Amino acid sequence: MELGLKDKVAIVTGSGRGIGAVTARALAEEGVRVTITDIDPATTEATRAALAADGFDVIGVPCDVTDKDQVANLVAKTVEAFGTVHILVNNAGFPRDGYIGKMSDEDWDLVVDVILKGAFNCSRAVVPHFMEQKYGRVVNIASRAHFGNPGQVNYSAAKAGILGFTRALGMEQGRFNVTVNAVAPGFIATEMIEALPNYETVKNKSLALNTVPRLGNERDIANGVVFLASDAAGYISGETLHITGGRFG
Ligand SMILES: NC(=O)c1ccc[n+]([C@@H]2O[C@H](COP(=O)([O-])OP(=O)(O)OC[C@H]3O[C@@H](n4cnc5c(N)ncnc54)[C@H](O)[C@@H]3O)[C@@H](O)[C@H]2O)c1
Repeated sequence: MELGLKDKVAIVTGSGRGIGAVTARALAEEGVRVTITDIDPATTEATRAALAADGFDVIGVPCDVTDKDQVANLVAKTVEAFGTVHILVNNAGFPRDGYIGKMSDEDWDLVVDVILKGAFNCSRAVVPHFMEQKYGRVVNIASRAHFGNPGQVNYSAAKAGILGFTRALGMEQGRFNVTVNAVAPGFIATEMIEALPNYETVKNKSLALNTVPRLGNERDIANGVVFLASDAAGYISGETLHITGGRFG
């Protein structure tokens, strides 16, 4: 399959670790020049250095995706280094769980802000480049939680919201040869997930409900992102690719 990714330029948010870091590596392996960016400057630099040491063409720019000035700097630094940007992966995000009666305003705002405002800020900042060059790919990292998870009204709402965002932006941008899609991961045992207090329970639930009888890993998600970012997926837009080992409920 011809992916057409060689020499493309990508920004992967939240790529200091986890799914974002592995996605950045998977894109780099296809010849993409990648901006590693995370709210955490230390992991941004560690991931950048690891990829650079393996000979990949990468830069690191720390950025909080909820801050539009930092996002403007992220895109400016990318364009300065690589000339333009073709691919945006909106990956930064996390849960802050709690049943609704005990959920604080802060936990609602934080989760919704990082996932939705973050995707909005980053997409708005790259779209002028996409429109000018008549090419662009946005891949939003959603979650199986968009179907709803108890204890996750904030996270489920934000991840369902990102699917509406995906379709609406795809409708706006299609005429510029820009596709916008989402990947909805199931349970992936990243550091974030391993830190959950109920980690063993959710892991066993995943193993019981997946139709593919194993846990998912970051590469499973990265593979889907690489495909949706590629020329091979040029006729797919507004779509949500569930990478859940066959689990929907
Ligand atoms: N791991 C899973 O099981 C799973 C399942 C479904 C969806 N997801 C989604 O995948 C994405 C990546 O998750 P992960 O498991 O790799 O988590 P992770 O915590 O390992 O990685 C997320 C990264 O985002 C960064 N980040 C947090 N807030 C940020 C901000 N404001 N600006 C920029 N970066 C910020 C973190 O520092 C971290 O490096 C998230 O959107 C998550 O919701 C994960």
